Amino acid sequence: MTRVVYVNGRYLPYAEAGVHVEDRGFQFADAIYEVCEVNGGRLVDETRHMDRLERSLGELRIPLPMSRRALGLILRKVIRRNRVETGLVYLQVTRGAAPRDFPFPAAGTTNPTLVCLARRVDGAKREARAEGGIAVKTMPDIRWGRCDIKTVMLLPAVLAKEAAAADGAQEAWLVDSDGFITEGASSNAWIVDKAGTLITRPTGNAILPGVTRRSLLDVLSRENIPLVERPFSVDEAISAREAFITSASGTVMPVVRINGVSIGNGYPGDLTRRLRSKFHQAVEFSR
Ligand code: PDD
Repeated sequence: MTRVVYVNGRYLPYAEAGVHVEDRGFQFADAIYEVCEVNGGRLVDETRHMDRLERSLGELRIPLPMSRRALGLILRKVIRRNRVETGLVYLQVTRGAAPRDFPFPAAGTTNPTLVCLARRVDGAKREARAEGGIAVKTMPDIRWGRCDIKTVMLLPAVLAKEAAAADGAQEAWLVDSDGFITEGASSNAWIVDKAGTLITRPTGNAILPGVTRRSLLDVLSRENIPLVERPFSVDEAISAREAFITSASGTVMPVVRINGVSIGNGYPGDLTRRLRSKFHQAVEFSR
């Protein structure tokens, strides 16, 4: 089956899809994106992803290219046309194409570029990964001061993940100049300390406010599980009883090794497993 990609109003075969060479997303990373989970052919947490998309675009003063309803129809069509049951849908909005110049092009001279693609994920493989848990490597957080905006300016994340992969780890945990974990290169970071307290960093400019993180807060209140939102250090993470990451691509994914050191007994923790199993009870599904 040929994959179909949406680009600026057209549904194109994967190999033929492209954007202008002077697209500002390409030249300046002047662009925003979202990644949503597709579960049973349904979109997960569309409202929260759209809220974050609008907020990110607003921070960069890129106009929403069309109504949320119209964007939702594109997401659904791309999911359907690619017959994605289990997987991800990716949406990117750039400021558009214009002759290369740093300031924004004059209002009305360019239209935002909109790209949407969907990808299947092997659900069994992901479950197997969650059964064993993943390894994490810590890396300095060399990103900018507005990590709350979901831009495609992902080179620090690429370099951190590459270093992690070279060490056999599946995620990098980024460390600020005070020695505290900010978040994963493409996920939010959580630990359960020796006393059993669940800890994650509060939202702010230093991290992306994860949609999965937000929905997990709903799981926690339903289950009456207390949470402490505060930064935690690398040492605390390494001596934690449990650790995990959250993201649209992995939901709640156990972490069993940090910098080569086993976390807890080296297996996914009880609370982590419980939160993973409950996660989809608290999300919004839409078709
Ligand atoms: N990454 N922090 C960062 C830096 C991220 O890139 C992501 C998501 C998250 C988790 O956000 P959410 O729960 O909304 O997926 C946190 C996506 C999945 C990606 O870049 O592929």
